[in-house]
Amino acid sequence: MQKVKNQIKPFLKWAGGKGQLLDKFNSYYPNDLKTGNIKNYFEPFLGGGAVLLNVLQQFDIKKATVYDINKNLILTWRTVQQHVDALIEILETLQKKYHSLSTENRKEFYYKKREQFNYNGHKINYLNIDADSIQHAADIIFLNKTCFNGLFRFNSKGEFNVPMGRYKNPKILDAENLQLVSDLIKNVTIKNSEFTGVESDLVSDSFVYFDPPYRPLSNTSSFTAYSNSSFGDVQQKELGKLFNRIHLLGAKQMLSNSDPKNTNPEDTFFDDLYRDFNVFRIPAKRAINSVGGKRKPINEILVTNYQVK
Ligand SMILES: C[S@@+](CC[C@H](N)C(=O)[O-])C[C@H]1O[C@@H](n2cnc3c(N)ncnc32)[C@H](O)[C@@H]1O
Repeated sequence: MQKVKNQIKPFLKWAGGKGQLLDKFNSYYPNDLKTGNIKNYFEPFLGGGAVLLNVLQQFDIKKATVYDINKNLILTWRTVQQHVDALIEILETLQKKYHSLSTENRKEFYYKKREQFNYNGHKINYLNIDADSIQHAADIIFLNKTCFNGLFRFNSKGEFNVPMGRYKNPKILDAENLQLVSDLIKNVTIKNSEFTGVESDLVSDSFVYFDPPYRPLSNTSSFTAYSNSSFGDVQQKELGKLFNRIHLLGAKQMLSNSDPKNTNPEDTFFDDLYRDFNVFRIPAKRAINSVGGKRKPINEILVTNYQVK
């Protein structure tokens, strides 16, 4: 049961965002989702949520549940869901102010905001959203749109430490899109939790999409620095086991990751981990963390536990 086209977009720039792969993903979604037989959707590594928004816009989903370990990210999603008007008002003021400043003053404004944001981060309420947490969510969107490359990275002390980006007139507020996202996710359950939380929430007729932090392509790549917890091979294997257990429960699953064969043709890490399932390779263009000027196409791994037609 196909619905409207994909006009609603992620409201954050997010490392590993799947925006440019959505067209390709469409042919890999389970048939039961397309025919309306699957009505429950789970996404344990939400991030920018490109796939969530894509799925909600296309298919008849009765219940969606999403998870992410990053409390700032989850606060922002919940604020968009529950307090979008207040959020838009703050962003409007922020955008007007920022655009009216000279380059030098913008720099001062950005770094002051960043400092304030890190200070407030220790005292705001992440669970029950109040005026201070709405302000914090607005600051997250502001920093995300004005920082270098849209990276949303925290250091080991849990501080946001990304320098200012070099955008001429960054669009800080897209009010129409924020409103549309807010309406679209009204009934989504948004959890600040480990990916493992999905296991006890599963019901029958479910589709689960896993987009874990990428396994780094080389030792120098710091692609996994989404929050101050790291996601190494131990966690990738733990996820592999979860995928096996969920398979036995009968849910349809799709999982993406970077292809280690991009840099080492001998590396069969995911082929081994998911040997009982279908492992596809699809061409992708990474937008973030590629060496300047060298944006060559690389493969993304896609695993499914169902037949793809
Ligand atoms: C590749 S990103 C997801 C990208 C997303 N699908 C998109 O399109 O933008 C991975 C996400 O997993 C989250 N994450 C990292 N470790 C996690 C864990 N142990 N449990 C749940 N989420 C985790 C990160 O905060 C990050 O947002």
